[in-house]
Amino acid sequence: MRRRELLAGLVAAPLVRSQPSVSRVEVLLREPIARIAPEIYGHFVEHLGGVVYDGIWVGEGSKIPNQDGLRTDIIHSLAKTKPSVIRWPGGCFADQYDWRDGVGPRASRPKRTNFWIDSKQWPAAANKMGPQVFDTNHFGSADFARFCRRVGAQPYFAANLRSLPAQDFWHWVEYCNSPNGSTANAAKRAADGEPNPLNVRYWGVGNESWGCGGNYSPEDYAIEFKRYSAWVPNYGKPLSMIGSGPSSGELEWTRKFFQKAATQGGLGKMWGWGLHHYSTNVSGGRTNDWDASKGDALQFSREEHYELLREATHMDRLIESHWSAMGDVDRAHRVKLVVDEWGSWHRPGTEPFAEALIGQQNTMRDAVLAALTFNIFHRHAEKVAMANIAQLVNCLQSLFLIHEEKFCVTPTYHVFEMYAAHQGAEAVRTVVSSPAPLEWKRPGGQGMRLEALNASASVQGKRVTVTVVNPSFDEAREVEVRLAGASVRTAAGTILGGASAHSHNTWSAPRAVEPKPMTARVNGDAVVCHVGASSVVKLLIEVA
Ligand code: AHR
Repeated sequence: MRRRELLAGLVAAPLVRSQPSVSRVEVLLREPIARIAPEIYGHFVEHLGGVVYDGIWVGEGSKIPNQDGLRTDIIHSLAKTKPSVIRWPGGCFADQYDWRDGVGPRASRPKRTNFWIDSKQWPAAANKMGPQVFDTNHFGSADFARFCRRVGAQPYFAANLRSLPAQDFWHWVEYCNSPNGSTANAAKRAADGEPNPLNVRYWGVGNESWGCGGNYSPEDYAIEFKRYSAWVPNYGKPLSMIGSGPSSGELEWTRKFFQKAATQGGLGKMWGWGLHHYSTNVSGGRTNDWDASKGDALQFSREEHYELLREATHMDRLIESHWSAMGDVDRAHRVKLVVDEWGSWHRPGTEPFAEALIGQQNTMRDAVLAALTFNIFHRHAEKVAMANIAQLVNCLQSLFLIHEEKFCVTPTYHVFEMYAAHQGAEAVRTVVSSPAPLEWKRPGGQGMRLEALNASASVQGKRVTVTVVNPSFDEAREVEVRLAGASVRTAAGTILGGASAHSHNTWSAPRAVEPKPMTARVNGDAVVCHVGASSVVKLLIEVA
């Protein structure tokens, strides 16, 4: 191993130092927050690079095992994580998509230019004539709904607000939800193999309407939102409309939208307000070339490890600040937050294959990021009604890397699998104390800090689920989880960690990172465990 690289933290550090003092997580069982919506364990599928074509869809005639053209491997693996909801077809792609292109016999569907054709991020070797660039539309609404049904998730459709009229939106709702035999669009759906309504409940009214979704002002978007969402038929089952919310800390977008909505007679049919937040590690400073200023997925130093995680922990204050701005108008907080794009966004260079635009590798650092983020969502369970990691496969912080016959899950997949135990349980407050925060210096000398331990807990009957994240690059921790006022009967632990924060899975080593059972020692009202550096622990505790 090269000593210089090791010192710079660019390769796995073999030595794991152990802090002597014990860190503590107090679980306040009598301080409930709210039910953890299973929908925060949602996903996102966009017609972008290798997400749909290759990642999910191979077509009925493919030699790759499939069910109605949908890959069997991803169906089986995804179903195990209890995916609650999946957003489709974008992203930026949504505001260019005409749902009618994905309807009818596949052979006669039109080929269309994909939104992402002009991206500067296409790897040089990419085939620019494939379905990733010229979309065959072989994967349409009925196929997506079928995929959702097979994995046990609800569909969340994002409607085109920038380039199609409002009438097309309600015709799409009609195609999806009108009763069998009732309308021309229901007949089209039946011809696509789905006679019964697809019962799509979640509808996004545009995407990033401040940017690729139309470059609207918040005031103009407020008017458009109302116009698009006001008179859509619901066929006896209320629809949940989701507004195109801000990017990260853009509070003015939230404030001005809600203020305009207030003077326009209310928020109409709005159920959720979107929020997008990506962690990119731009500690070196953001330049005009945003992609070049991001960090690398695999090569990162201790400092870069912390910078990325610190950006992820902004989620906490983003939820609080947007929630508070929404509350100025929506005093009863009828509208909840929908974090419908989140995750790490690294610089180009680790795409799993050339057509996987914005594809990236995924290490234990990304898994820690996901686990931290879920802990934050749990702690705001009364505010966050849904969240969708970007994106499901071959793109950004994905759960899967898939190409032709090659398949592997990422460390982030295992976080979803482990954390599924929280779904639908009651989040309760936790108090975390650890010896000292993590500290590092930026290139300019600025001192930075990050909490040394992160946790959340939920209760379902006599079962308490506690998830603990150790974000430290190289220090393990002894952690005592104390359940005040309860007596612990049994405790079972699972740990997700690798040799280092850089550990990841590949097609040739698909099980380099996977969860393992671990010792969880019961001590009266406490459980004690050893949490390795850069790892995630789940404790399933049964109380008397
Ligand atoms: O997830 C990739 C892109 O990021 C989405 O299309 C867009 O909504 C966001 O800017």
